[in-house]
Amino acid sequence: MYLEKKISEDIYYVGVNDRQTTLFEGLWELPAGVSYNSYLIKDDKTCLIDTVDALFAEQFTGRVAETLCGRKLDYLVVNHMEPDHSASIKAVRAMWPDVTIVGNAKTFAMLKGYFGITDNLLEVKDGSVLPLGRHDLSFYLTPMVHWIETMMTYDNSSRTLFSGDAFGCFGALDGHFIDTSFDTRKYIPEMVRYYSAIVGKYGVPVQKAFQKLSSLQISTVCSTHGPVWRERVSDVLALYNHLSLYDGKPGCVIVYGSMHGNTVRLAETIADSLAAEGVRNIILHDLSASSKARILADIFSYKGLVLGCPTYSNELFPPMAELIEMLRLRDVKPRFYACFGTCSWAGASAKKLAAFGEAMGYETVYPPVGQMHAISEESFRQCVELGKAMASKLVVSD
Ligand code: FEO
Repeated sequence: MYLEKKISEDIYYVGVNDRQTTLFEGLWELPAGVSYNSYLIKDDKTCLIDTVDALFAEQFTGRVAETLCGRKLDYLVVNHMEPDHSASIKAVRAMWPDVTIVGNAKTFAMLKGYFGITDNLLEVKDGSVLPLGRHDLSFYLTPMVHWIETMMTYDNSSRTLFSGDAFGCFGALDGHFIDTSFDTRKYIPEMVRYYSAIVGKYGVPVQKAFQKLSSLQISTVCSTHGPVWRERVSDVLALYNHLSLYDGKPGCVIVYGSMHGNTVRLAETIADSLAAEGVRNIILHDLSASSKARILADIFSYKGLVLGCPTYSNELFPPMAELIEMLRLRDVKPRFYACFGTCSWAGASAKKLAAFGEAMGYETVYPPVGQMHAISEESFRQCVELGKAMASKLVVSD
């Protein structure tokens, strides 16, 4: 038994909340859960858009069946094949064997590979239209936002964009599901965290998708995670545009690892110097305490980046090696950059962090600061100068 959740004439929310998974994709913390959104259009023909994670297949099909009120399901549109949205397709097919599955050629290759489904398919291309009666659905292929088969579906009559993962965020839905009926401020940082962790590398494809959708009048955005956006459509579009352009705000993120409390002294000295120079947004992250998703979200958000860590077995402190691999993978750019490293006998970390900044094409604002043993007068002075050099870039760009 479920309360009906109506979005607009003929369109219903039929998604579920996941409050039990602790790591999304086995990687990213879910302190407030996540929703897997699906939508049902009841017109002359009925059409479901996306499904949900396999954990919730029974709950989901029950909700869809109740919302259908005894009608059969004619179409299932698959905007995205990642299993958090596709894993209940088999359950849908089992309950409504005649349902026609709508997707593009790349969708169908995955549908066969993941679930062995090859029949009763309707292939759409860019600009294809599927009439349901009062609603005509148009399809827009948006490859690499963030998988190769991703597409979006637009309902011309209600001006609703079913956007797949785009404009989605972490955070389960606590009763309310449309932004006009509750305070959605807590979801905005979760959208940044979601974007930087999941979509992050694909700024260029996101920009191409924006161009493709630019002629559409969008009144409502129904993504696959988080609230339905109606009041804040322009806000979430602007946020995605900002993030996909890697357009950081003035401010500096200092990420450090510290094994015995010496490296953190350098990090704090740099922060003090930035503050003394008038930089307002300064964020320190301890690699051993902060979540990787939170660190990535902040690095995506600000123009300045300082990395520092000890040398560990003549390599980078392992959590730092993991972080820079994540930054490489997401091709985060461009940033004002500086680094520092500590050691007890042979310093490798400062050099390796400097090489990382160079390989990423960052603008290095100060030479790498190396420190053997505890903080010295010379390394203190260099950290103060590093802070000044970074501040001169950030205050100018403010
Ligand atoms: Fe929400 Fe790319 O799956």
